[in-house]
Amino acid sequence: MEILKVENLSKVYGTGEARVEALKQVSFSMERGEFGAVVGVSGSGKSTLLNCIGGLDEADKGKVFLSGRDLFAMGENERTIFRRQNIGFIFQSFHLIPELDVEQNIIFPPSAGLQEAGAGTGGRDFGGARS
Ligand SMILES: Nc1ncnc2c1ncn2[C@@H]1O[C@H](COP(=O)(O)OP(=O)(O)O)[C@@H](O)[C@H]1O
Ligand SMILES: [Mg+2]
Repeated sequence: MEILKVENLSKVYGTGEARVEALKQVSFSMERGEFGAVVGVSGSGKSTLLNCIGGLDEADKGKVFLSGRDLFAMGENERTIFRRQNIGFIFQSFHLIPELDVEQNIIFPPSAGLQEAGAGTGGRDFGGARS
């Protein structure tokens, strides 16, 4: 089943001499369970792409469908909740909780969301430190 579909994603930063085309009509899709890596030299648009498909930023043109949902058609609040419930992030060097390991950092936001929603057993126990 296709879990991620990216269609003609384009994003430009700046104007005039400072204009940078960070994404130029990027299209691809991924199946559920598929593992992917975005590879490219510094400045090639990896972070811009991940920010757009992660619902943290909006592209200028194109669409992103996650589990069939059009990310850019959602309002900011709706996208924030969708992001928290469906997407895990590990940022390069910030927004990390140092006491948690990588897996725990990824699942902490959706887990917190489940507890907030009263799902009870949905939350994870972060008590035991791991090496
Ligand atoms: N907020 C921004 N304002 C202006 N230019 C940006 C901004 N973010 C990224 N860029 C530019 O867009 C291009 C792609 O950047 P980025 O997505 O960070 O690449 P990567 O993650 O592959 O290093 C680079 O030329 C970068 O300088
Ligand atoms: Mg980057």
